[in-house]
Amino acid sequence: MYPLIRNRRLRASESIRRLVRETIITPDDFLVPLFIVEGKGIKEEIPSMPNYYRMSLDLVEKEVKELWEMGLCAVLLFVKVPDELKDNKGSEAINPNGLMQRAIKTVKTACPEMLVMTDVALDPFSSYGHDGIVADGQILNDETSEILAKMSVSHAQAGADFVAPSDMMDGRILTIREALEDEGFQNTGIMSYSAKYASAYYGPFRDALDSAPVDIKNIPKDKKTYQMDSANRFEAIRETQMDVDEGADIVMVKPGLPYLDIVREIKNEVDVPVAVYQVSGEYAMLKAAAERGWLDHDAVMMEQLLAIKRAGANVIASYFAKDVVKLLS
Ligand code: PBG
Repeated sequence: MYPLIRNRRLRASESIRRLVRETIITPDDFLVPLFIVEGKGIKEEIPSMPNYYRMSLDLVEKEVKELWEMGLCAVLLFVKVPDELKDNKGSEAINPNGLMQRAIKTVKTACPEMLVMTDVALDPFSSYGHDGIVADGQILNDETSEILAKMSVSHAQAGADFVAPSDMMDGRILTIREALEDEGFQNTGIMSYSAKYASAYYGPFRDALDSAPVDIKNIPKDKKTYQMDSANRFEAIRETQMDVDEGADIVMVKPGLPYLDIVREIKNEVDVPVAVYQVSGEYAMLKAAAERGWLDHDAVMMEQLLAIKRAGANVIASYFAKDVVKLLS
């Protein structure tokens, strides 16, 4: 075809590039993770996540108003629980007056239109740092799902729009869906962490919430019996398809950038929206490289997010959301 066909014609100026661009990042793409702590006036930077903070509820209130003003429309809530409230069953997770339940109300009162999603898993509440109940060195599946269902109902009662189970127990989407229906929460959605890998990229997040698995005899040191093996691809499709069949409204692939092959595969396979979680370790890597002057922070940030969206993400959970919106405006 050459020289009649020259692909570079479509790259010749910024205007033609804008005209034919296939993927565009907007504030509507983002789900903003928020880390919440007890107290007042607290805004503490997470050491392994520069420029990202744990905040007390009074400051969360200000933060969500600011996010809404900026054009961001959805938050994903996580709480840091004091050690004395942790136990094996994560009992504090279903306290109607717990930090998560109060956080949901605070956000919904401050900004009623802000979409509130909540993390559903036991790890921040577990004395062992596991997503489920531990017995005889195992993570109990069905018993954990029952607690996750109660936790989901409790979040719905507090006003959550979506619950986001991040635990990887089998069958928990169905158990949660049925519990929500029974309690009259037909309109509360489920965003399932469907293809969640046992990844070393979650390190900074576990620092932020003090939620890493503990180093005690007979307690599993990692989450590999429930989170997926990084080597597997077909398993991700099966996991995701099952979650859709059980009633997930949105499915998720996590982490993001290292798993974009999986994102595309899932996108081709299911017809519900696909979310991608660009996780704490991905954030930390870019911040560290940029701090040393080794990478151009903003350019690499945008390139990574474009890649995630191009791969098939309809929703992106990202610690960069505010940085992006500032850059775009
Ligand atoms: C809790 C949960 C984790 C993340 C989101 N929800 C940690 C884990 O599974 O150990 C990780 C998010 C991140 O690294 O940014 N189950």
